[in-house]
Amino acid sequence: MVSPKILLIVGGGIAAYKACELVRLVRKGGGEVTCVLTDGGSHFVTAMTLAALSEQPVHTTLWDLKNEAEMGHIQLSREADLVVVCPATADLIAKMAAGIADDLATTLLLATDKPVLAVPAMNVRMWQHAATVRNVATLRAAGVTVMEPDEGPMACGEYGPGRLPEPEAVWARIGRMLSAGASTGSSFAQPELVEGSVLLAAQPDFATPAHRPLFGRHVLVTAGPTHEPIDPVRYIANRSSGKQGFAIAAAAAEAGARVTLVAGPVSLPTPAGVERIDVETAREMTEAVKAALPADIAIMVAAVADWRVAEEAGRKLKKDGSGEVPALKLAENPDILAGLAKSARRPGLLIGFAAETHDVITHAQAKLARKGADWIIANDVSGDVMGGASNAVHIVTADGVESLPEMPKGAVARALVERIANAL
Ligand code: CTP
Repeated sequence: MVSPKILLIVGGGIAAYKACELVRLVRKGGGEVTCVLTDGGSHFVTAMTLAALSEQPVHTTLWDLKNEAEMGHIQLSREADLVVVCPATADLIAKMAAGIADDLATTLLLATDKPVLAVPAMNVRMWQHAATVRNVATLRAAGVTVMEPDEGPMACGEYGPGRLPEPEAVWARIGRMLSAGASTGSSFAQPELVEGSVLLAAQPDFATPAHRPLFGRHVLVTAGPTHEPIDPVRYIANRSSGKQGFAIAAAAAEAGARVTLVAGPVSLPTPAGVERIDVETAREMTEAVKAALPADIAIMVAAVADWRVAEEAGRKLKKDGSGEVPALKLAENPDILAGLAKSARRPGLLIGFAAETHDVITHAQAKLARKGADWIIANDVSGDVMGGASNAVHIVTADGVESLPEMPKGAVARALVERIANAL
Protein backbone atom coordinates (compact mmCIF):
# COMPACT_ATOMS: atom_id res chain seq x y z
CA MET A 1 0.00 0.00 0.00
CA VAL A 2 1.19 3.51 -0.77
CA SER A 3 0.52 6.38 1.60
CA PRO A 4 -0.63 9.70 0.20
CA LYS A 5 2.21 12.20 -0.01
CA ILE A 6 1.81 15.82 0.98
CA LEU A 7 4.33 18.52 0.15
CA LEU A 8 3.80 21.14 2.86
CA ILE A 9 5.11 24.64 2.28
CA VAL A 10 5.29 26.56 5.55
CA GLY A 11 5.16 30.33 5.03
CA GLY A 12 6.16 33.06 7.45
CA GLY A 13 3.51 34.01 9.96
CA ILE A 14 2.62 33.47 13.57
CA ALA A 15 0.20 30.76 12.39
CA ALA A 16 3.17 28.66 11.22
CA TYR A 17 3.05 26.86 14.56
CA LYS A 18 -0.27 25.35 13.46
CA ALA A 19 1.55 23.77 10.50
CA CYS A 20 3.34 21.59 13.07
CA GLU A 21 0.00 20.30 14.29
CA LEU A 22 -1.06 19.70 10.69
CA VAL A 23 2.06 17.57 10.08
CA ARG A 24 1.14 15.55 13.15
CA LEU A 25 -2.43 15.01 11.93
CA VAL A 26 -1.34 13.91 8.45
CA ARG A 27 1.21 11.51 9.91
CA LYS A 28 -1.36 10.13 12.34
CA GLY A 29 -3.73 9.59 9.41
CA GLY A 30 -1.18 7.51 7.53
CA GLY A 31 0.08 10.19 5.14
CA GLU A 32 3.65 11.23 4.41
CA VAL A 33 4.69 14.86 4.67
CA THR A 34 7.70 16.56 3.18
CA CYS A 35 8.14 20.09 4.51
CA VAL A 36 9.53 23.11 2.75
CA LEU A 37 10.25 25.95 5.16
CA THR A 38 10.46 29.48 3.75
CA ASP A 39 12.84 32.07 5.19
CA GLY A 40 9.88 33.79 6.81
CA GLY A 41 8.55 30.51 8.19
CA SER A 42 11.90 29.77 9.82
CA HIS A 43 11.42 32.81 12.08
CA PHE A 44 8.40 31.11 13.63
CA VAL A 45 9.13 27.37 13.56
CA THR A 46 12.39 25.53 13.12
CA ALA A 47 13.37 23.01 10.48
CA MET A 48 14.23 20.72 13.38
CA THR A 49 10.65 20.72 14.68
CA LEU A 50 9.21 19.95 11.24
CA ALA A 51 11.84 17.26 10.57
CA ALA A 52 11.08 15.58 13.89
CA LEU A 53 7.33 15.62 13.32
CA SER A 54 7.44 14.60 9.65
CA GLU A 55 10.35 12.17 10.05
CA GLN A 56 11.66 13.56 6.77
CA PRO A 57 14.44 16.00 5.86
CA VAL A 58 13.15 19.57 5.63
CA HIS A 59 13.97 21.61 2.53
CA THR A 60 14.80 25.26 2.98
CA THR A 61 16.76 26.49 0.00
CA LEU A 62 17.05 26.20 -3.74
CA TRP A 63 20.80 26.32 -3.44
CA ASP A 64 21.40 23.08 -1.58
CA LEU A 65 23.88 21.08 -3.61
CA LYS A 66 23.37 17.87 -1.66
CA ASN A 67 19.58 17.97 -1.92
CA GLU A 68 19.68 19.03 -5.54
CA ALA A 69 21.89 16.08 -6.40
CA GLU A 70 19.66 13.60 -4.53
CA MET A 71 16.32 15.07 -5.56
CA GLY A 72 16.01 18.12 -7.81
CA HIS A 73 13.44 20.76 -6.98
CA ILE A 74 11.32 19.85 -10.01
CA GLN A 75 11.12 16.25 -8.84
CA LEU A 76 10.27 17.41 -5.32
CA SER A 77 7.34 19.42 -6.73
CA ARG A 78 5.99 16.41 -8.63
CA GLU A 79 6.53 13.64 -6.14
CA ALA A 80 3.67 14.66 -3.90
CA ASP A 81 -0.01 13.90 -4.47
CA LEU A 82 -0.98 17.30 -3.14
CA VAL A 83 0.90 20.52 -2.42
CA VAL A 84 -0.33 22.42 0.64
CA VAL A 85 0.73 25.97 1.44
CA CYS A 86 0.07 26.54 5.14
CA PRO A 87 0.16 29.27 6.24
CA ALA A 88 -0.17 31.02 2.88
CA THR A 89 0.89 34.59 3.61
CA ALA A 90 -0.23 37.60 1.54
CA ASP A 91 3.28 37.64 0.08
CA LEU A 92 3.25 33.97 -0.92
CA ILE A 93 -0.23 34.32 -2.42
CA ALA A 94 0.88 37.37 -4.42
CA LYS A 95 3.96 35.57 -5.70
CA MET A 96 1.89 32.50 -6.63
CA ALA A 97 -0.61 34.68 -8.51
CA ALA A 98 2.16 36.52 -10.33
CA GLY A 99 4.17 33.37 -11.10
CA ILE A 100 7.24 34.60 -9.24
CA ALA A 101 9.79 31.92 -8.42
CA ASP A 102 12.46 33.51 -6.26
CA ASP A 103 12.98 30.87 -3.60
CA LEU A 104 12.49 27.14 -3.16
CA ALA A 105 8.81 27.36 -2.13
CA THR A 106 7.70 29.60 -5.00
CA THR A 107 9.80 27.66 -7.51
CA LEU A 108 8.13 24.41 -6.45
CA LEU A 109 4.71 26.04 -6.70
CA LEU A 110 5.42 27.19 -10.23
CA ALA A 111 6.88 23.85 -11.27
CA THR A 112 4.31 21.50 -9.78
CA ASP A 113 1.76 19.61 -11.83
CA LYS A 114 -0.18 18.52 -8.74
CA PRO A 115 -3.27 20.07 -7.11
CA VAL A 116 -2.45 22.92 -4.74
CA LEU A 117 -4.27 23.88 -1.56
CA ALA A 118 -3.48 27.32 -0.11
CA VAL A 119 -4.48 28.03 3.49
CA PRO A 120 -4.32 31.78 4.03
CA ALA A 121 -3.38 33.48 7.29
CA MET A 122 -2.84 37.21 7.54
CA ASN A 123 -4.08 40.41 9.08
CA VAL A 124 -7.72 41.21 8.24
CA ARG A 125 -6.82 44.37 6.28
CA MET A 126 -4.26 42.43 4.26
CA TRP A 127 -6.85 39.72 3.52
CA GLN A 128 -9.42 42.30 2.46
CA HIS A 129 -6.97 44.43 0.46
CA ALA A 130 -7.93 44.70 -3.21
CA ALA A 131 -4.55 43.26 -4.21
CA THR A 132 -5.07 40.11 -2.12
CA VAL A 133 -8.68 39.76 -3.29
CA ARG A 134 -7.42 39.96 -6.88
CA ASN A 135 -4.60 37.50 -6.23
CA VAL A 136 -6.92 34.97 -4.57
CA ALA A 137 -9.36 35.25 -7.49
CA THR A 138 -6.48 34.68 -9.92
CA LEU A 139 -5.37 31.59 -8.04
CA ARG A 140 -8.88 30.17 -7.83
CA ALA A 141 -9.43 30.77 -11.53
CA ALA A 142 -6.19 28.89 -12.15
CA GLY A 143 -7.53 25.90 -10.22
CA VAL A 144 -5.76 26.44 -6.88
CA THR A 145 -8.00 25.66 -3.92
CA VAL A 146 -7.81 28.63 -1.56
CA MET A 147 -9.50 28.01 1.79
CA GLU A 148 -11.44 30.81 3.44
CA PRO A 149 -9.60 31.99 6.54
CA ASP A 150 -11.36 31.83 9.89
CA GLU A 151 -12.83 34.91 11.47
CA GLY A 152 -12.01 36.06 15.00
CA PRO A 153 -9.53 37.90 17.18
CA MET A 154 -6.06 37.96 15.64
CA ALA A 155 -2.56 37.87 17.07
CA CYS A 156 -2.13 41.50 15.92
CA GLY A 157 -5.07 42.59 18.09
CA GLU A 158 -7.55 43.19 15.27
CA TYR A 159 -10.69 41.20 14.57
CA GLY A 160 -12.02 39.74 11.35
CA PRO A 161 -11.33 37.13 8.67
CA GLY A 162 -7.68 36.22 8.26
CA ARG A 163 -6.98 33.64 10.94
CA LEU A 164 -5.57 30.33 9.80
CA PRO A 165 -8.33 27.68 9.89
CA GLU A 166 -7.82 25.07 12.58
CA PRO A 167 -5.44 22.25 11.55
CA GLU A 168 -8.36 19.76 11.74
CA ALA A 169 -10.26 21.77 9.13
CA VAL A 170 -7.19 21.92 6.89
CA TRP A 171 -6.66 18.20 7.32
CA ALA A 172 -10.33 17.61 6.48
CA ARG A 173 -9.90 19.60 3.27
CA ILE A 174 -6.74 17.67 2.39
CA GLY A 175 -8.60 14.40 2.87
CA ARG A 176 -11.43 15.62 0.70
CA MET A 177 -9.09 16.65 -2.08
CA LEU A 178 -7.34 13.29 -1.94
CA SER A 179 -10.53 11.27 -1.84
CA ALA A 180 -12.05 13.43 -4.60
CA GLY A 181 -9.04 12.64 -6.73
CA ALA A 182 -9.66 8.97 -6.06
CA SER A 183 -13.35 9.05 -6.99
CA THR A 184 -13.05 11.25 -10.07
CA GLY A 185 -9.88 9.73 -11.42
CA SER A 186 -8.60 13.30 -11.68
CA SER A 187 -5.34 14.13 -13.31
CA PHE A 188 -3.19 13.40 -10.30
CA ALA A 189 -2.16 9.86 -9.60
CA GLN A 190 -4.12 8.74 -6.59
CA PRO A 191 -2.22 6.46 -4.27
CA GLU A 192 -3.93 3.48 -2.75
CA LEU A 193 -4.92 4.92 0.59
CA VAL A 194 -3.97 3.13 3.74
CA GLU A 195 -7.26 1.77 4.97
CA GLY A 196 -9.07 4.32 7.07
CA SER A 197 -6.20 6.78 6.91
CA VAL A 198 -7.25 9.70 4.82
CA LEU A 199 -10.71 8.92 3.56
CA LEU A 200 -12.78 11.05 5.83
CA ALA A 201 -15.59 8.59 6.25
CA ALA A 202 -13.25 6.67 8.48
CA GLN A 203 -12.53 9.70 10.63
CA PRO A 204 -15.51 10.59 12.74
CA ASP A 205 -13.80 13.75 13.96
CA PHE A 206 -13.75 15.17 10.48
CA ALA A 207 -17.24 14.04 9.59
CA THR A 208 -18.73 16.32 12.20
CA PRO A 209 -21.50 18.55 10.89
CA ALA A 210 -19.53 21.70 11.71
CA HIS A 211 -16.92 20.88 9.12
CA ARG A 212 -18.87 18.81 6.66
CA PRO A 213 -22.60 19.42 6.95
CA LEU A 214 -23.32 17.67 3.63
CA PHE A 215 -21.09 14.68 4.33
CA GLY A 216 -22.64 11.47 3.01
CA ARG A 217 -25.04 13.30 0.68
CA HIS A 218 -25.08 13.17 -3.09
CA VAL A 219 -25.70 16.57 -4.63
CA LEU A 220 -26.57 16.86 -8.32
CA VAL A 221 -26.07 20.24 -9.98
CA THR A 222 -26.84 21.31 -13.55
CA ALA A 223 -25.06 24.40 -14.84
CA GLY A 224 -24.39 26.49 -17.90
CA PRO A 225 -26.37 26.88 -21.10
CA THR A 226 -27.28 24.19 -23.58
CA HIS A 227 -26.41 24.43 -27.25
CA GLU A 228 -29.09 23.28 -29.65
CA PRO A 229 -27.62 22.57 -33.07
CA ILE A 230 -29.13 24.06 -36.24
CA ASP A 231 -26.62 22.43 -38.58
CA PRO A 232 -23.07 21.11 -38.08
CA VAL A 233 -21.68 24.65 -37.57
CA ARG A 234 -24.49 26.67 -35.98
CA TYR A 235 -26.46 26.41 -32.79
CA ILE A 236 -29.01 28.19 -30.58
CA ALA A 237 -27.56 29.23 -27.22
CA ASN A 238 -28.06 31.66 -24.34
CA ARG A 239 -25.86 33.92 -22.23
CA SER A 240 -25.43 31.62 -19.23
CA SER A 241 -21.75 31.42 -18.16
CA GLY A 242 -22.18 28.52 -15.72
CA LYS A 243 -20.44 30.51 -12.95
CA GLN A 244 -23.29 30.30 -10.42
CA GLY A 245 -23.83 26.56 -10.93
CA PHE A 246 -20.09 25.83 -10.73
CA ALA A 247 -19.84 27.91 -7.55
CA ILE A 248 -22.71 25.90 -6.02
CA ALA A 249 -21.05 22.62 -6.98
CA ALA A 250 -17.79 23.84 -5.39
CA ALA A 251 -19.55 24.97 -2.20
CA ALA A 252 -21.40 21.65 -1.88
CA ALA A 253 -18.13 19.73 -2.30
CA GLU A 254 -16.49 21.94 0.32
CA ALA A 255 -19.36 21.09 2.63
CA GLY A 256 -18.44 17.43 2.23
CA ALA A 257 -21.01 16.27 -0.33
CA ARG A 258 -20.33 13.95 -3.24
CA VAL A 259 -21.14 16.26 -6.12
CA THR A 260 -22.09 15.45 -9.70
CA LEU A 261 -22.03 18.50 -11.94
CA VAL A 262 -23.77 18.15 -15.30
CA ALA A 263 -22.36 21.05 -17.28
CA GLY A 264 -23.40 22.55 -20.56
CA PRO A 265 -20.73 24.04 -22.82
CA VAL A 266 -18.76 26.49 -20.66
CA SER A 267 -15.06 27.21 -20.27
CA LEU A 268 -14.71 26.94 -16.51
CA PRO A 269 -12.34 24.73 -14.54
CA THR A 270 -13.90 21.81 -12.69
CA PRO A 271 -14.16 22.65 -8.98
CA ALA A 272 -11.98 20.50 -6.73
CA GLY A 273 -13.67 17.32 -5.63
CA VAL A 274 -16.51 17.53 -8.14
CA GLU A 275 -17.40 14.90 -10.71
CA ARG A 276 -18.18 16.73 -13.93
CA ILE A 277 -20.18 15.42 -16.87
CA ASP A 278 -20.06 17.64 -19.95
CA VAL A 279 -23.08 17.77 -22.24
CA GLU A 280 -24.13 19.96 -25.11
CA THR A 281 -27.88 19.73 -25.67
CA ALA A 282 -30.92 19.72 -23.39
CA ARG A 283 -31.61 16.13 -24.32
CA GLU A 284 -28.07 15.09 -23.40
CA MET A 285 -28.45 16.98 -20.12
CA THR A 286 -31.70 15.10 -19.43
CA GLU A 287 -29.96 11.76 -19.94
CA ALA A 288 -26.93 12.73 -17.84
CA VAL A 289 -29.19 13.84 -14.98
CA LYS A 290 -31.08 10.53 -15.08
CA ALA A 291 -27.82 8.60 -15.12
CA ALA A 292 -26.55 10.52 -12.07
CA LEU A 293 -29.56 9.56 -9.90
CA PRO A 294 -30.22 8.82 -7.12
CA ALA A 295 -29.34 12.12 -5.47
CA ASP A 296 -30.33 13.56 -2.11
CA ILE A 297 -30.39 17.11 -3.39
CA ALA A 298 -30.69 18.40 -6.96
CA ILE A 299 -29.98 22.02 -7.81
CA MET A 300 -30.96 22.81 -11.36
CA VAL A 301 -29.03 25.95 -12.18
CA ALA A 302 -28.64 25.33 -15.92
CA ALA A 303 -30.27 27.70 -18.35
CA VAL A 304 -31.69 24.88 -20.43
CA ALA A 305 -32.86 25.93 -23.89
CA ASP A 306 -36.64 25.65 -23.96
CA TRP A 307 -36.61 24.79 -27.65
CA ARG A 308 -34.40 22.96 -30.09
CA VAL A 309 -34.49 22.96 -33.86
CA ALA A 310 -37.00 20.28 -34.82
CA GLU A 311 -34.83 18.85 -37.54
CA GLU A 312 -31.12 19.47 -37.35
CA ALA A 313 -29.64 19.80 -40.83
CA GLY A 314 -27.02 17.14 -41.52
CA ARG A 315 -25.09 19.55 -43.73
CA LYS A 316 -24.32 23.24 -43.41
CA LEU A 317 -27.25 25.38 -44.53
CA LYS A 318 -26.16 27.43 -47.54
CA LYS A 319 -27.47 30.69 -49.01
CA ASP A 320 -28.82 29.86 -52.43
CA GLY A 321 -28.68 33.42 -53.77
CA SER A 322 -32.45 33.77 -54.03
CA GLY A 323 -32.63 35.99 -50.92
CA GLU A 324 -34.97 33.49 -49.21
CA VAL A 325 -34.15 32.85 -45.54
CA PRO A 326 -34.54 29.41 -43.99
CA ALA A 327 -37.41 29.07 -41.48
CA LEU A 328 -36.36 27.22 -38.35
CA LYS A 329 -39.09 24.99 -36.98
CA LEU A 330 -38.62 24.52 -33.25
CA ALA A 331 -39.56 21.63 -30.97
CA GLU A 332 -39.94 21.83 -27.19
CA ASN A 333 -37.15 20.38 -25.09
CA PRO A 334 -37.86 18.12 -22.12
CA ASP A 335 -38.20 20.10 -18.88
CA ILE A 336 -35.57 18.41 -16.75
CA LEU A 337 -36.66 19.99 -13.47
CA ALA A 338 -40.36 19.26 -13.92
CA GLY A 339 -39.55 15.72 -15.10
CA LEU A 340 -37.40 15.10 -12.02
CA ALA A 341 -40.15 16.45 -9.74
CA LYS A 342 -42.56 13.82 -11.08
CA SER A 343 -40.11 10.96 -11.24
CA ALA A 344 -40.10 8.06 -8.80
CA ARG A 345 -36.47 8.93 -8.06
CA ARG A 346 -37.20 12.54 -7.12
CA PRO A 347 -34.41 13.87 -4.88
CA GLY A 348 -35.53 14.70 -1.34
CA LEU A 349 -34.74 18.37 -1.89
CA LEU A 350 -35.31 19.67 -5.41
CA ILE A 351 -34.24 23.22 -6.18
CA GLY A 352 -34.80 25.14 -9.39
CA PHE A 353 -33.58 28.51 -10.56
CA ALA A 354 -35.74 31.12 -12.22
CA ALA A 355 -34.17 33.63 -14.53
CA GLU A 356 -36.64 36.47 -14.85
CA THR A 357 -36.54 39.97 -16.25
CA HIS A 358 -39.67 41.30 -14.48
CA ASP A 359 -42.12 40.44 -11.63
CA VAL A 360 -39.35 38.18 -10.35
CA ILE A 361 -41.00 36.84 -7.19
CA THR A 362 -44.49 36.40 -8.65
CA HIS A 363 -43.06 34.41 -11.56
CA ALA A 364 -40.87 32.38 -9.21
CA GLN A 365 -43.84 31.47 -7.01
CA ALA A 366 -45.77 30.34 -10.08
CA LYS A 367 -42.74 28.35 -11.24
CA LEU A 368 -42.42 26.66 -7.84
CA ALA A 369 -45.91 25.24 -8.17
CA ARG A 370 -45.77 24.55 -11.90
CA LYS A 371 -42.47 22.67 -11.79
CA GLY A 372 -43.04 20.85 -8.50
CA ALA A 373 -39.77 22.08 -6.96
CA ASP A 374 -39.23 22.58 -3.21
CA TRP A 375 -37.38 25.86 -3.65
CA ILE A 376 -36.95 28.25 -6.53
CA ILE A 377 -33.93 30.54 -6.46
CA ALA A 378 -35.09 33.55 -8.39
CA ASN A 379 -32.86 36.16 -9.88
CA ASP A 380 -33.38 39.20 -12.03
CA VAL A 381 -31.39 38.71 -15.22
CA SER A 382 -32.33 42.03 -16.77
CA GLY A 383 -28.86 43.39 -15.76
CA ASP A 384 -25.53 41.61 -16.30
CA VAL A 385 -26.18 38.63 -14.00
CA MET A 386 -25.69 36.18 -16.86
CA GLY A 387 -21.93 36.07 -17.24
CA GLY A 388 -21.38 38.54 -14.37
CA ALA A 389 -19.53 37.87 -11.13
CA SER A 390 -22.29 38.69 -8.64
CA ASN A 391 -25.92 37.87 -8.11
CA ALA A 392 -28.85 38.93 -5.91
CA VAL A 393 -31.22 36.04 -5.34
CA HIS A 394 -34.56 35.41 -3.67
CA ILE A 395 -35.12 31.99 -2.12
CA VAL A 396 -38.77 31.21 -2.77
CA THR A 397 -40.30 28.30 -0.87
CA ALA A 398 -43.78 27.27 0.20
CA ASP A 399 -43.03 29.01 3.52
CA GLY A 400 -42.12 32.39 2.10
CA VAL A 401 -39.39 34.39 0.43
CA GLU A 402 -35.89 35.17 1.70
CA SER A 403 -34.10 37.85 -0.29
CA LEU A 404 -30.30 37.93 -0.12
CA PRO A 405 -28.34 41.10 -0.93
CA GLU A 406 -26.20 41.23 -4.04
CA MET A 407 -22.95 39.35 -3.48
CA PRO A 408 -20.30 37.42 -5.41
CA LYS A 409 -21.60 34.18 -6.91
CA GLY A 410 -19.30 32.18 -4.59
CA ALA A 411 -20.91 33.83 -1.56
CA VAL A 412 -24.40 33.15 -2.97
CA ALA A 413 -23.36 29.52 -3.38
CA ARG A 414 -22.14 29.23 0.21
CA ALA A 415 -25.29 30.91 1.53
CA LEU A 416 -27.44 28.41 -0.37
CA VAL A 417 -25.40 25.43 0.80
CA GLU A 418 -25.74 26.67 4.38
CA ARG A 419 -29.53 26.83 4.00
CA ILE A 420 -29.60 23.42 2.35
CA ALA A 421 -27.59 21.96 5.23
CA ASN A 422 -29.99 23.58 7.72
CA ALA A 423 -33.02 22.29 5.83
CA LEU A 424 -31.69 18.73 6.04
N1 CTP B 1 -35.27 23.90 -16.58
C1 CTP B 1 -35.09 22.58 -16.87
N2 CTP B 1 -35.37 22.12 -18.14
C2 CTP B 1 -35.84 22.96 -19.08
C3 CTP B 1 -36.04 24.32 -18.76
C4 CTP B 1 -35.74 24.76 -17.50
O1 CTP B 1 -34.68 21.81 -16.02
N3 CTP B 1 -36.08 22.49 -20.28
C5 CTP B 1 -35.02 24.35 -15.21
C6 CTP B 1 -33.86 25.31 -15.07
O2 CTP B 1 -32.64 24.64 -14.84
C7 CTP B 1 -34.30 26.14 -13.88
C8 CTP B 1 -35.81 26.15 -13.97
O3 CTP B 1 -36.15 25.03 -14.79
O4 CTP B 1 -33.97 25.50 -12.67
C9 CTP B 1 -36.42 27.39 -14.53
O5 CTP B 1 -35.96 27.68 -15.78
P1 CTP B 1 -36.51 28.94 -16.62
O6 CTP B 1 -35.85 28.91 -17.96
O7 CTP B 1 -36.36 30.18 -15.84
O8 CTP B 1 -38.02 28.60 -16.71
P2 CTP B 1 -38.89 28.21 -17.93
O9 CTP B 1 -39.33 26.82 -17.71
O10 CTP B 1 -38.16 28.46 -19.19
O11 CTP B 1 -40.12 29.16 -17.76
P3 CTP B 1 -40.33 30.60 -18.45
O12 CTP B 1 -40.15 30.40 -19.90
O13 CTP B 1 -41.71 30.94 -17.99
O14 CTP B 1 -39.33 31.52 -17.85
